[in-house]
Amino acid sequence: KSINDLGDLKGKRVLIRCDFNVPLDGETITDDGRIKAALPTLKQLTEAGAKVVVMAHLGRPKGEVNPKYSLAPAAKRLGELIDAKVTLAGDVVGESAKGAVAGMAEGDIVMLENVRYEPAEESKVDAEREALAAKYAEFGDVFVSDGFGVVHRKQASVYDVAKLLPNAAGHLVAKEVEVLKKLTETPQRPYVVVLGGAKVADKLSVIDNLLKVADTLIIGGGMGYTFLKAKGYEVGTSLLDAEKIDTVTGYMKDAEAAGKGLLIPSDAVVSPSFPSGDGPFEKTTVASDSMPADQMGLDIGPETAKAYADAIMGAKTVFWNGPMGVFEVDDFAAGTKAVAQALADTDAFTVVGGGDSAAAVRQLGFPDDAFGHISTGGGASLEYLEGKTLPGLDVLEGN
Ligand code: 3PG
Repeated sequence: KSINDLGDLKGKRVLIRCDFNVPLDGETITDDGRIKAALPTLKQLTEAGAKVVVMAHLGRPKGEVNPKYSLAPAAKRLGELIDAKVTLAGDVVGESAKGAVAGMAEGDIVMLENVRYEPAEESKVDAEREALAAKYAEFGDVFVSDGFGVVHRKQASVYDVAKLLPNAAGHLVAKEVEVLKKLTETPQRPYVVVLGGAKVADKLSVIDNLLKVADTLIIGGGMGYTFLKAKGYEVGTSLLDAEKIDTVTGYMKDAEAAGKGLLIPSDAVVSPSFPSGDGPFEKTTVASDSMPADQMGLDIGPETAKAYADAIMGAKTVFWNGPMGVFEVDDFAAGTKAVAQALADTDAFTVVGGGDSAAAVRQLGFPDDAFGHISTGGGASLEYLEGKTLPGLDVLEGN
C-alpha cells in the first residue's frame, strides 16, 4: 500500500520511520542524502495537513542515552530543508515526547529522540519490543515505513509498530524496492557486485548468497584483509575478523567451484596508524603478500584499483556497497575514487548502495546522476539483493 491509499490525512497523526543515520563530523552532517531522500513523503504528509511524528536512529548507542548520538543535527537539517515546523523531542517515549506530540498543529513535524536510546528497540525478546512499539503506536493514527535503510532490522520502530496501526510504504521505500527488484529479477549479465566498507561482520555474512546471484564479486575495504589472511598473508594491524577466516576460505573455494569471479586486493596502501587530525599521512604501497606487521591497510593499491575498474567496465550491471578505504582522508581515497569513476564511466546499469558509499561518491565530487540509482540502504539493499525476506517490508499491509 502506498501513502496515497491512507485516505485523507488532514489532522491525522502519521507516525513515520525514517532512516536519518547520517554521517557526522562532530555535529556537522557530512552527507544529508538520507534526509533529502525522505522529503517527498514528508512534504506530501505535511502539505496534506497531517501531524507527522518521525522515528529514527543514529549510530549504535546500545540502549543508552548518549548525547553523542542525539538526532539534533538531523532535526535541524530537516527544518532547513522543509517548509514546516520541526521539533526534536527530548526523549523517545517519555513526557517530553508525549507533550510535543500533544501540542502539534496540522503540518507540524515532531522527531522523537534516537529510538535506540530505548533498550527494547533492538531487543531479541519479542514481548519487550512489542511493549515499546505499543508506546510508539500511541503517537500515531497510521504508520508509514519510509526508512529503507533499516527495513532489514526486526526492531520495534521498524517491524513491531507496523502490526499495531494501519500502514503503508512511503515513496522512498517504494522507489528503492522498484529499482532493486530489477537487480534481483532481471539483471543484465555480467553482473558485478563490489563490496567494501567497515561493517565487516555484517557484510561477510552476505557473501555466500551474493555469490549465487552475481557473476563476479569484488572485495575491498575493511573486509579485504580477512580474505588476505585467509590466503595465508600477514595483514599487520589491519581490520580483521579473525573468527571468519575459515568461512572466508570456504567462500573462495565455493566461488572457484561455481566458476564465479572473486577478486581480492593484490596491493594495499598501508600506514603506521589510523589517520586522525590533519594530513598528509605517512603511507606506502605494498603487495598484498608483503604487508608490514606494524602497519595497517587503509586503501586498495593502484594495481588493485585498475583491476577492479576493468572488471566494472566489462559488466552490464554493477551494484556497489562500501568504500574501498578510508575515503574521508585524501591520502586513502584513491581506491574508492577509482571504483566510483568506473561506475560513472560504464554504460552498465549501476546502483550505489549505503550511507557511506553515497557519502563517498558525493564527497569525491560525483553528481548523483552519474549513477543509475543511489540507494539509501546499505545492509538493507544487500539483504534485498541476497533474496532475503526483509522484516520491515514483509510486515507491511498488502505485501
Ligand atoms: C545503515 O546505516 O545501514 C542503517 O541506518 C542501519 O544501521 P545499522 O546497521 O546500525 O542497523
